[in-house]
Amino acid sequence: MPMNLAHRKLCSSEKWARTTRELILPFALDGVDLGDDVLEIGPGYGANLRVLVDRVPRLTAVEVDGKTARLLEGRWGDRARVLHADASDLPLPEASFDSVVCFTMLHHVPTRALQDRVFAEAHRALRPGGVFAGSDSLSSFGFRLLHLFDTMNVLDPEELPGRLAAAGFQDTKVERHTSGSGFRFRCRKAR
Ligand SMILES: C[S@@+](CC[C@H](N)C(=O)[O-])C[C@H]1O[C@@H](n2cnc3c(N)ncnc32)[C@H](O)[C@@H]1O
Repeated sequence: MPMNLAHRKLCSSEKWARTTRELILPFALDGVDLGDDVLEIGPGYGANLRVLVDRVPRLTAVEVDGKTARLLEGRWGDRARVLHADASDLPLPEASFDSVVCFTMLHHVPTRALQDRVFAEAHRALRPGGVFAGSDSLSSFGFRLLHLFDTMNVLDPEELPGRLAAAGFQDTKVERHTSGSGFRFRCRKAR
């Protein structure tokens, strides 16, 4: 489902691009080695993608909303491979990425079962030893307001290690941001 209007405005704004560049990405990716072949799932309007294209040799982005995917392709298609596809059913061969990343997107996956399929697909797409890392938000009054008439399926960080282990991952670390607004996670596919 496309995001609501307020959400689309926020996610496509320069303010959001600055927030994600200066706060979210440094927190989510601190100490993470992304390798050469990176897959970002749920890139939205590209706030993270525009930073990642300068950092990694090869970037693929998978966005489920067709209009957003076309917009991304128009803006970044010369520097990243943009696919209109569903991260819970990736049209990508197994073991083809060094890392899979996602930022502020998992709560937009409408059901727990589909979120678990996203984890399983991330695991399938990774090479042995590859890293799955990212961050997401925790619920608050403002966050719930922003998601009126929109998908909001916030994850419980306490449950994440078990869910990621069920998808096949190991060495999982989940940490809350000191602001209380979100959390980061990183885990690895066995070598
Ligand atoms: C709140 S936006 C965040 C976008 C971007 N990651 C950012 O931080 O600016 C969530 C994005 O995830 C996309 N999304 C949701 N479910 C998806 C799925 N199953 N596969 C790929 N993209 C998905 C939505 O269409 C939306 O563009």
